Amino acid sequence: MILPVLSLQFDGSCRIRCKLCSLYRLLLVLLLCIGFVHPEAKAEEDAVEFPDLLDADDIAYFFSQGDIDGLHWALSNVFAASERNPDPSQVKHRLPQQLVSRGGGSTYTTEYKLKMDIQQAEYLATHLAEEDRDPKWAKFFQDAVLPIYQKVLSNVPPVDQLERTHGLYAFREADLELGIGNIYNKAWHHTNFEELKDPTTGKVLPLLNPEMDTNNIEREWFGEDNNPDHHPGILYIDDVLSKEALGRIRQLLLESTVWYQTKMPLRFGGYVGAYIDDGLHDRLLLQLSMELHKALPRIMKGHPLKYLWAYKYDSEYTGINLHADEAAVNVNIWLTPDEANLDPTSGGLVVFTAKPPEDWNFAEYNTDTDRVVEELLRPTNFANVTIPHKQNRAVIFDSSLFHQTDRYKFKPGYENRRINLTILYGDMQRSSSHTTDTPPGSQDVKTEL
Ligand SMILES: [Fe+2]
Repeated sequence: MILPVLSLQFDGSCRIRCKLCSLYRLLLVLLLCIGFVHPEAKAEEDAVEFPDLLDADDIAYFFSQGDIDGLHWALSNVFAASERNPDPSQVKHRLPQQLVSRGGGSTYTTEYKLKMDIQQAEYLATHLAEEDRDPKWAKFFQDAVLPIYQKVLSNVPPVDQLERTHGLYAFREADLELGIGNIYNKAWHHTNFEELKDPTTGKVLPLLNPEMDTNNIEREWFGEDNNPDHHPGILYIDDVLSKEALGRIRQLLLESTVWYQTKMPLRFGGYVGAYIDDGLHDRLLLQLSMELHKALPRIMKGHPLKYLWAYKYDSEYTGINLHADEAAVNVNIWLTPDEANLDPTSGGLVVFTAKPPEDWNFAEYNTDTDRVVEELLRPTNFANVTIPHKQNRAVIFDSSLFHQTDRYKFKPGYENRRINLTILYGDMQRSSSHTTDTPPGSQDVKTEL
């Protein structure tokens, strides 16, 4: 039997074609299982034309259908064809300008980003060599990656001599001759973790702590618990993940070389970023996004997954400045052990109770900090809910509320770095978001500045 030849083109602006893709994949898998597929049909799978980047509406589309397979399929195929792929023969797209402009380019770096890359390469060289996990790749990190990173780092001037670029360092001829262009910001190691499964039955295991009291959480969100110490639309949950899920997600974030974004250290803090549309798409994380959505149906109603990212911080710098994120519900999960935090009363998140007025655009409320402070925060006397860092704590809040990283001081060392995982659902609600069930619109999620 030969499958009909379909001319498929994956286009972020055309959902109908995505539906065709889903049906086509289902049929293909079915026929592969029963051995009836012709090689030409298999080639069709490879012939799907993917865009160079998925957007928040693409992610929401698959998520709204409950199609985690489709979402992972699209994200992983787009990523595999990107310049992150170390195999040049697989690369079909140049790095999209959107990734470059948010700090994920491959021709420049910062001192703190290179230091993180070096720590991660050392970590992989050690851990991949353990218990015979993957000694060949351990050797690669030790012998090929680390020497180049270390030599290039020695070429980077002190950050105060890079004022014109706000601390960014463009690779020079000497760095390129060392081979940095072939090494930097590539997916050398990708965990690709699937869902956690029971080793005996193969059944998918939940990632969320089964003792989580979701009814009480939702009552707190909507202010129905009448607790004066609680603020509707801002809450936290301790021990949110099962022990196994916490360990696995932490391993993923320590090991996967998908931390491509650096910020300008003289303008922003010192943190590297990894994004769902640029490699942070393990099925494990997509499952977590879906589980949270299903566990909190009243909070999440009408708010599909829009975006997901993680940040890994450098304790020599500050964290993320005051901003609001374009989403309805913002979930932040902290992964780093409590022993790493040198001040347990801090290190978390400050969530203010003010949000942008309807007539302010993204640039106004996320770049003009002085105006936000004077016109929006000072009149509330800077009313806020400050939640200290704790491992396995999830902070869930109305994403339109202004927020910033609390002051933090963590121990030095790669495994002590503060890491937060952020999952964004739905579109920003400028007013009364936690008391309405507004359906999702078409506004794109924009990342933090
Ligand atoms: Fe944020």
